[in-house]
Amino acid sequence: MQAMGRLAGGVAHDFNNILVVILGYAELLLSKFKEKDTTRNQLERIVDAVNRAAALTKQILAFSRKQVIDLQVVSPNDIVSNTMSIVKTMLPEDVEIALNLSPEVSNIEADSHKIEQVLMNLVINARDAMPAGGRLFIKTNEMDIEETSARNLHLKNGRYAVISVCDTGIGIMDDVMPHIFEPFFTTKDKGKGTGLGLSVAYGIVRQHNGTIQVESMVGKGSEFHVYLPVTEKSKEKNISKPMQDKYDAFSGHERILVAEDNEAALIIISDTLTSLGYYVATAENGYEAVRLAEGAKEPFDMLVTDVIMPRMNGKELFERLSARYPSMKVLFISGYSDEIIYKSGVKDKNIALLEKPFDNQKLAKTVRQVLDANPL
Ligand SMILES: Nc1ncnc2c1ncn2[C@@H]1O[C@H](COP(=O)(O)OP(=O)(O)OP(=O)(O)O)[C@@H](O)[C@H]1O
Ligand SMILES: [Mg+2]
Repeated sequence: MQAMGRLAGGVAHDFNNILVVILGYAELLLSKFKEKDTTRNQLERIVDAVNRAAALTKQILAFSRKQVIDLQVVSPNDIVSNTMSIVKTMLPEDVEIALNLSPEVSNIEADSHKIEQVLMNLVINARDAMPAGGRLFIKTNEMDIEETSARNLHLKNGRYAVISVCDTGIGIMDDVMPHIFEPFFTTKDKGKGTGLGLSVAYGIVRQHNGTIQVESMVGKGSEFHVYLPVTEKSKEKNISKPMQDKYDAFSGHERILVAEDNEAALIIISDTLTSLGYYVATAENGYEAVRLAEGAKEPFDMLVTDVIMPRMNGKELFERLSARYPSMKVLFISGYSDEIIYKSGVKDKNIALLEKPFDNQKLAKTVRQVLDANPL
């Protein structure tokens, strides 16, 4: 299992580098076309497809359950609504969908992409359980989980948002039920299922301090309830479209040094930051970055560096530079799962880390946040 996790992590790293480039250029092009342009529409499809590929890579990484999760305040209803367009394309015509989203549901602190992935996995299972058609029911709710049930569900007591995915399919037999969350457990024909869907979903939900509870009756159907702790916090206001305005909100004139051993990723990061107004210098390895920093007339305000680079890794590079330029800010970029990052020594709550693949927006926003943050 561990070996598989490591293999998956390695593949995902290289694959993520490729995705960063495709996504980056598609988005740069996108910002150059007007809202109504047909080319824009085509580019949006590329962006969509890359995002799906990114979701797939994360599915593989999630398997090791050691991903970096990117928590934000979100509404469970929004998460459900966002997945509906994809859900609809996945269901055959003889499966009817019904939604019942409670307007009362509070926000949760979650990585919405990951929760979307959980929903997708549950929906796919529901679809597969209804080969002759049926009804898929997705609902949201909020409830108090008291002492006893909290203990039974292995949750802290408190308030939870519940997202339920219910089907009228074949149901789950009593002897199958205890195994459904096990990795590689599947009742599907050879070559059909990997048996990873539910184990990945469960891993993600546990990382969010929640759980998944199942009820099923053979021949009648199944209900999967995803419990996620609610938060009092309110949502960050979304800066409205168009794309160009969003970018401008994150522009700046600071001097940024970028170190990244993957040439294509280096170019896209540097293009994005340059287009935002920053002064950017690029280095393909740590030594070159040190040379650039020491040779510069003015010190750099910020270092953006890949964590894993041959010979001198991102952490070593930052340590060398910050010894000489103590006010230099840093943003680490990585395509690896948590475990490898821990080993490289870069995992600290106070350190900014951007997970690959990221889109230009996210890069722009994170760079601005790091630059604006007060020194520790
Ligand atoms: N909604 C459901 N109705 C009936 N059985 C289900 C349902 N969801 C899951 N199961 C059972 O749990 C097993 C494990 O599910 P899981 O999603 O982990 O793997 P899978 O669906 O078999 O494979 P994959 O997700 O890779 O396609 C399934 O093979 C099936 O027996
Ligand atoms: Mg499945």
